Amino acid sequence: MSDINKAWVRLCPLDRVSSGKALNLNINGQRLIIARCGDNISVMQGFCTHMLYPLAGARIQDCVLTCGLHHSKFDIRDGSVVEWSTLPGLAGNTLEAVREQKILRTFETRVDDGTVYVLWPTDDPNSVRVRL
Ligand code: FES
Repeated sequence: MSDINKAWVRLCPLDRVSSGKALNLNINGQRLIIARCGDNISVMQGFCTHMLYPLAGARIQDCVLTCGLHHSKFDIRDGSVVEWSTLPGLAGNTLEAVREQKILRTFETRVDDGTVYVLWPTDDPNSVRVRL
C-alpha cells in the first residue's frame, strides 16, 4: 500500500484543451502533456518513452498520439503503445533499450463542472504550481 497522499489539483477549463494536439503542461516543474479525445482528458508524461523526444505539440487522431520524431503511437486514454517505431535503424545491443516497448505514464483526471482536475501526489493541492 502506498503512503503517498494524493489530492485533486485544478488544471484549467475544459475548453482550453482542444482535440488534435498535445499541449505542454508543467506541474511543479515536471514536464507533462495534456491531451483530449472527445470527453476524455489525459495528463501524461511529457517525453516519448522511445527516445525521450518532447511530446508537446504532438498530433492526436482517433485518441492516438504520434511522436514527432520517429512516429511511435500511443493511446492517450491509457498510455499504451499502439505502434512502436523501428527507427533509428541502427544495429547493436546498446540499442536494446530503444527496442523495448514502454507505455506512457498517465495520471488520473476528472472533469467537474467544466473544469479539468488531475490526481496529484500532494498533501496540499493549493501549493501545487500549474503552468499550461
Ligand atoms: S523519440 Fe518518440 S518515437 Fe522515437
